[in-house]
Amino acid sequence: MIDFAYRTSNDYLEAKEKATDNPEAFWNEVAITFDWHKPWVKVLEYDFHKPSVKWFLGGKLNITENCLDRHLKTQPNQTAIIFEPNDLSEAAQRISYKELHSRVCQAANMLKANGAKKGDRICIYMPMVPELAIAVLACARIGAIHSVVFAGFSASALATRINDADCKMLLTADGGYRGNKVTPLKAIADEALTQCASITHCIVLKRTGQNIAWNTIDLWWHEEIEKVTNNCPAEIMDSEDPLFILYTSGSTGTPKGMVHSCGGYMVYTAFSFQNVFQYQKGDVYWCTADIGWITGHSYIIYGPLAVGATTLMFEGVPSYPDYDRFWEVCAKHKVNQFYTAPTAIRALQKHPSELVSKHDLSSLKVLGSVGEPINEEAWHWYDEHVGKKKCPIVDTWWQTETGGILITSLAGVTPQKPTYATLPMPGVQVVLLDNEGNEIEAEAEGILAIKHPWPSIARTIWGNHERYKNVYFSAYPGYYFPGDGALRDAQGNYRITGRVDDVVIVSGHNLGTAPIENALNEHESVVESAVVGFPHDVKGNALYAFVITNDIIDDEEALVDALRAIVAKTIGPIAKPDCIQVVSGLPKTRSGKIMRRILRKIAADQLDNMGDISTLLNPEIVEEIIKNKP
Ligand code: PRX
Repeated sequence: MIDFAYRTSNDYLEAKEKATDNPEAFWNEVAITFDWHKPWVKVLEYDFHKPSVKWFLGGKLNITENCLDRHLKTQPNQTAIIFEPNDLSEAAQRISYKELHSRVCQAANMLKANGAKKGDRICIYMPMVPELAIAVLACARIGAIHSVVFAGFSASALATRINDADCKMLLTADGGYRGNKVTPLKAIADEALTQCASITHCIVLKRTGQNIAWNTIDLWWHEEIEKVTNNCPAEIMDSEDPLFILYTSGSTGTPKGMVHSCGGYMVYTAFSFQNVFQYQKGDVYWCTADIGWITGHSYIIYGPLAVGATTLMFEGVPSYPDYDRFWEVCAKHKVNQFYTAPTAIRALQKHPSELVSKHDLSSLKVLGSVGEPINEEAWHWYDEHVGKKKCPIVDTWWQTETGGILITSLAGVTPQKPTYATLPMPGVQVVLLDNEGNEIEAEAEGILAIKHPWPSIARTIWGNHERYKNVYFSAYPGYYFPGDGALRDAQGNYRITGRVDDVVIVSGHNLGTAPIENALNEHESVVESAVVGFPHDVKGNALYAFVITNDIIDDEEALVDALRAIVAKTIGPIAKPDCIQVVSGLPKTRSGKIMRRILRKIAADQLDNMGDISTLLNPEIVEEIIKNKP
């Protein structure tokens, strides 16, 4: 097991100083602890204006050799993955490093036998079963670029992502279990594939055994895997070769396929995993995210496996069969580090605390939070009921784009502060900017920006480098602009205040409002729509849609149902607005821009502080919308 964790606050401060003064020497030292086929000739080359970032130039490696092969020498029988199925009646599985290595190599050969090769894009649309992690690693083994699409996304969202990356192969399952629901993944995939010409092979894992349609490109996973051996030497990759594409919503247009590279991503996810969670050999670590999101990529698969950890994968949901499932799993597998999202904490907090106290949670050492700001009440509930006030809580701020955690406390090493993500990781140079782009010092509130690259920054948007430049590097030239606002206290702790663009974080899911508006506008009765976020006590934020229709609507309820269904079909059920209001107009500036600021206030019922509306083209509409609010 690799151990480059800082154990004291002083270690952290020293590392931070070193990483700021000489980032290249600092990251050089971290990177040499991994297995490389060929060392790099240069640690870093970057220009945020172009933008271009390259780490460990000329270095050759395969991330799976670091996640699997090298542990075979030291801990072949250590459990790599614990799998906890959706249903209590199904036994949990423990997969050792040796077994995982063998299964990944065999799956890699299965992909190769079906024509996959280095550089090909392979889409993975699978439930949270071990084969999903195996599929991801099998792609990495052969140098194919994986694009995992969350299994809750609709056929149309899946098709958009397959087509954007021009994927050659799809890995899916007949269905997936989630709580008391069975998702017909293969049927959804079939519908998506009617719009995707690039897919030549669809490999189907049998999970639920449900009836499915069978097409000429379909192959059963269990039949294909039988045809190949488990001997698969790793493809040697350049440090800067793409490892994967993962889509995230933007405030406009189609989802952005963030591209992560092999070398830098490996170094940073392992380094941050080890330091943030203070993982120790033999610990059981559980991140409740889905592998369909970046949290699952970095902190269920790559980071933990790179340091030789035991990582738990859970197929189900926190409410099934009852609202104590998380705590039951923690007790059952003696979980030491538990990493979840504020939205889950808020949902569970609403249930009697006996559901927590009846389980033995004494194994827990560290708690983590990710995906959205954690409010004070949820933080304290987590601390008292789950952590029994003895587990440090790491509130980790990061993004799909950043690849790894950038602002956080290090469990038990650096101070925590409720609702604050606290301090940047060593080597992460965070600043606050004012609206003009000037750096602001000391205690302040402003726009979060980062002025030096870290190894796991996404290198581009697949097929659209211009968009990458425009979204992240143009608003404040010379900085990476994540799209969040933050405030900083006198000790330098950061508290994330939320998005400063048109992305809304709903239950920890990053949703752009523009694609939802586009979906609503597809309905024949809708002329124009505007979607905004408003505070919600469990989801953090919920969506409120204002729609203008082309005619008088007799049955508004039916329209609202139809609109919610369109959004679910086009994007996925997570994007369905909580509230849809039919309006006769939207507040607009004289240049025709929708004043979302006003709509946000209306949605949030903050009516006494509307600001100046006299400059609107149609100020009277504000009163009307408020009056008719459902
Ligand atoms: O607004 C921030 C919020 O989630 C956004 C990134 O979303 P996504 O790419 O889906 O990745 C989520 C998992 C890493 C950020 O721009 N966010 C994430 N973590 C936090 C957060 N907001 C506040 N506190 C956090 N700990």
